[in-house]
Amino acid sequence: MTNNAVTCISELKNNVGKEVTLAGWLYNSRASGKIQFLIIRDGTGLCQCIVEKGSVPDELFSELKHIGQESSLKVTGKVRADERSVGGYELNIINAEVICPATDYPITPKSHGIDFLLKHRHLHLRSSRQWCIGKIRHTLIDAIRRFFNDNGFTLIDTPIFTAMAAEGEQTLFEVDYFGEPMRLTQTGQLHLEAAAMSYGKVYCFGPTFRAEKSKTRRHLTEFWMVEPEVAYIDLPGLLELAENFICFIVQAVLESNREQLEYLEADIAALEKVKLPFPRLTYTESAGILTSNRTQEFLANQLVELQNERNRLQAQLEELEIKQEGQLKQWQKDKIAADVIDIKAELAELDTKIENNPKHAKLAAEFEWGKDLGGSDETIISQMHEKPVFVTHYPKEAKAFYMRTDRSNDKVVENFDMLAPAGFGEIIGGSAREDDYELLLEKIKAYQLKPDDYQWYLDLRKFGSVPHGGFGLGVERTVAWLTGERHIRQCIAFPRLMDKVYI
Ligand code: 4AD
Ligand code: MG
Repeated sequence: MTNNAVTCISELKNNVGKEVTLAGWLYNSRASGKIQFLIIRDGTGLCQCIVEKGSVPDELFSELKHIGQESSLKVTGKVRADERSVGGYELNIINAEVICPATDYPITPKSHGIDFLLKHRHLHLRSSRQWCIGKIRHTLIDAIRRFFNDNGFTLIDTPIFTAMAAEGEQTLFEVDYFGEPMRLTQTGQLHLEAAAMSYGKVYCFGPTFRAEKSKTRRHLTEFWMVEPEVAYIDLPGLLELAENFICFIVQAVLESNREQLEYLEADIAALEKVKLPFPRLTYTESAGILTSNRTQEFLANQLVELQNERNRLQAQLEELEIKQEGQLKQWQKDKIAADVIDIKAELAELDTKIENNPKHAKLAAEFEWGKDLGGSDETIISQMHEKPVFVTHYPKEAKAFYMRTDRSNDKVVENFDMLAPAGFGEIIGGSAREDDYELLLEKIKAYQLKPDDYQWYLDLRKFGSVPHGGFGLGVERTVAWLTGERHIRQCIAFPRLMDKVYI
């Protein structure tokens, strides 16, 4: 089937005054007597189509009036620019063909709970919200590839089946590989280090698996990670690479997806502040900040703000509930019902934050040097910054075996995390790699890993070892930060969560 005769909604701007045919799905409709308004979506945008009685055969007029949400159809009509209309253009319909009528589409304009939506993800992907997130993810992935391709990196596809643990044994998925135990990869890094010794600058980009027994908003069991690895680079060099990379991808999304960011009510002004250089803190400085009076004051002020926000929303909710009692049209009732559900969800979220605030304050006050930064600690540090912030030089014991020991202080390693601002927390983890054969072997043993399993990895330190390093950026966490989406499960089309794989 050719699509020659069909115009995309995104192309309407070039077709004003012309007659076009759109092929899509019915997003929403309302009728008032002799006129119907059909909002059609076609994957490239939304367009309001107007059907007037008399301008199409009566039978068709009646058919269109009765088709349900998400019916597929083709419509033909003249394009008119209209600023007030969704998308800015309207179609005056002169003909239409219903391809497949739909009745009782389960996802109505009313809001639904997240569990319901995840069970209906195959359909929920059609919602404006998911559509916008998917478009931003697409730009992000394209920008990631462009950044590395244009900066002299070679793409290396690292294996998904691997015997090696890099990020801790506890989060490995075991699979049966023809009777032999095998694992799903947690990172492409170790193989990438081998490739970096061949090409200099390399990256891998693929699905990554972690059996994280964690139901937080930041964890998926399957996520996408891009990992660059560079020969002859040190920690300051890596930080520079990472901040240039982040500025580039943020800029790309701001340029290509402003409309989607606006729809999602993302904090565009905050993204515009993402400029070089990013602040750099050591872990030790971060620990000092966490236990300082300043942090306690910061959290106390935040609690007051959260409570004020809660009161404001509660008042708004009560107002809506009074409105609901009045005489209303069906669409007005639906709109209010949707707003009520949204506000209740926001209130529940605020309640969690209000409940957590003193717990996080206590955790911060009691933070001891040597522990890894927890989710709440990262949140606090990143809430104190407007730009992404680097935290470097973590205690050796809190981090992975492959990280390079700082030669001027052997209690810490030459690593970094990049925390996205405003409380989003870690989006990048990276380090210089231990390049000394003996020190690496010692670490492998100290971490109770079997040196035999790491023979080839150790080999890299025998044959022309050089200072090298890299990092990994999680795509879903980055999308969550850019879009302001709280939970990363919304940032991948078909999320895999610890407690459930829905679809
Ligand atoms: O900090 P991580 O574990 O680092 C590594 O895997 C290194 N080997 C990377 C490297 O140096 N080449 O993971 C890197 C990033 C995190 O900052 C986070 O964005 C993401 O991967 N990530 C997850 N995203 C979603 N769900 C999870 N369970 C994630 N675990 C890590
Ligand atoms: Mg990490």
